[in-house]
Amino acid sequence: MERYAVCLEKISFSYENTVVLNDLSFQVKAGEHIGLIGDSGCGKSTLLKIIAGLYAPDEGLVSIAGESLPEKIREKAAVVMQHNSLFPLSVRENITCGHDISEERIWSACQSASLTEWIESLPDGLDTSVGERGGQVSGGQAQRIQIARALCKDAPIILLDEPLSALDQDTGASVLHALDTLTKGKTVIHVTHDPEPLGSHYLLYRMEGGRLIRA
Ligand SMILES: Nc1ncnc2c1ncn2[C@@H]1O[C@H](COP(=O)(O)OP(=O)(O)O)[C@@H](O)[C@H]1O
Ligand SMILES: [Mg+2]
Repeated sequence: MERYAVCLEKISFSYENTVVLNDLSFQVKAGEHIGLIGDSGCGKSTLLKIIAGLYAPDEGLVSIAGESLPEKIREKAAVVMQHNSLFPLSVRENITCGHDISEERIWSACQSASLTEWIESLPDGLDTSVGERGGQVSGGQAQRIQIARALCKDAPIILLDEPLSALDQDTGASVLHALDTLTKGKTVIHVTHDPEPLGSHYLLYRMEGGRLIRA
């Protein structure tokens, strides 16, 4: 059997009374770039959280880069979440997540994520706190900190949940550039309401009725 980078087999998931995923099967080959669209509330974010090993499906099997234990899956996937997922810690800790990462690598990730100028303007630079729920940083900065985190993690699977939503056009362009760096050579699932900025090499799928269909 071919080894897929992402393999979902007969996944079902509900919140209390809301059925979100219904017997969904989906495979992504290593290096493929998938664009995922679908109406608001159809379950795109939930699906990414399951693929990332953050939620366990009610039924079915998830395997990522050959791993199926949630703690192993979480090592293989880097996620840029739709909603602020910063810890109430410093910019540095939000990027390294407590891992021992060299200063050079952190700054290189910040450079790619267009964060350098902003960090240099902060009172304590990389050691400045982002505040409760990231309250001290803008939506665009929070998004780019997540991108820098993902760059440092250097995981084979990249999961992106509307990383360009709620950004102004300037920030959007620099984030798009950072995403190009992040996704190069990786397996990617990119949830978006606007597939236009995705390159033509993206395979588009639409989520509907708890399943995925080729768009
Ligand atoms: N934590 C939660 N508890 C209960 N229902 C939720 C929760 N998160 C999402 N939902 C519901 O599940 C459905 C799918 O949500 P979501 O995965 O966020 O969709 P999308 O990302 O496509 O907008 C929606 O009906 C939403 O209201
Ligand atoms: Mg969503």
